[in-house]
Amino acid sequence: MTIKAFIFDLDGVLTDTAEYHYRAWKRLADEEGLPFTREDNEHLRGVARRDSLRLILKDRVVPEGKFQAMMERKNGYYLEFIKEITPRDLLPGAKELLEELRAAGLKSALGSASKNAGEVLDRLGIRSLLDAVSDGYSVERQKPAPDLFLHAAQQLGLPASECVVVEDAAAGIEAAIAGGFRSVGLGPRERVGKAEAIFPSLAGVRGRDLLGALEANQEK
Ligand code: G6P
Ligand code: MG
Repeated sequence: MTIKAFIFDLDGVLTDTAEYHYRAWKRLADEEGLPFTREDNEHLRGVARRDSLRLILKDRVVPEGKFQAMMERKNGYYLEFIKEITPRDLLPGAKELLEELRAAGLKSALGSASKNAGEVLDRLGIRSLLDAVSDGYSVERQKPAPDLFLHAAQQLGLPASECVVVEDAAAGIEAAIAGGFRSVGLGPRERVGKAEAIFPSLAGVRGRDLLGALEANQEK
C-alpha cells in the first residue's frame, strides 16, 4: 500500500464550523419561514453554498437576485461566527495528526468546498502545516464530484490512489470514491458508511491508526 498524502476536509473534520454553517442557514431559514432542522442539515454537510440553498428551498422557486441575496445573507451570518475562531477551535487530534504526518514525511492538503476556508485556516493557525490548499474557489464542479480532491492531488503532484481523503460528509466520501482516492469517514455510519475506514472523530487518532484501518479494509 503506497500512501503518500492525506487530503482533509475542513468543516466538521479539522474544526467544528459545520455547526456554524448550520446555525447560519437556520437563521436564514427561520427568517424566510422555511422548515429546516438539524436532520435536514446532515444532508448539507460538504455541499457548496448554492447547492445548499437549493436543498433548503426544496420546491420553492426564487428569482436569481433574491437567491443571491439569500446566499449573501447566510454568508454574513457565517462570517460573524468565524470572526471568533482561534487555534483553540481545532477539533481534538487534528493538529497532532497534521504534525505527526509532516514529521513522518507524508504530505497534507486541504480539500474544502468553502470559500471561507482560507480565513478559517488562518484563524486556526494551521496553514503552515498544509502542503496544498484547495477550496471553494478552486473548481467549478463541487462535491460529490471528485474535482476538488483531484485539484488538491494535482497540487501535491500525486495520483489519487496515493492520497487518503478524510471527510465527515456523505458528499465528500462519494467525491473521494468517484476520484479513485482512499477514504476515511468521520462520524456516524449512516453518514459516512461508504468510506473504507470509519472513526468517530480524529480525537486520539494517529497516522498508524488510519493506515492500519485502510490496510485491514484492503485485505478484506
Ligand atoms: C463546506 C461545508 C458546507 C458549506 C460549503 C460552502 O463544504 O461543509 O456546509 O456549505 O463548504 O461553504 P461557504 O463558506 O463557501 O459558504
Ligand atoms: Mg465537512
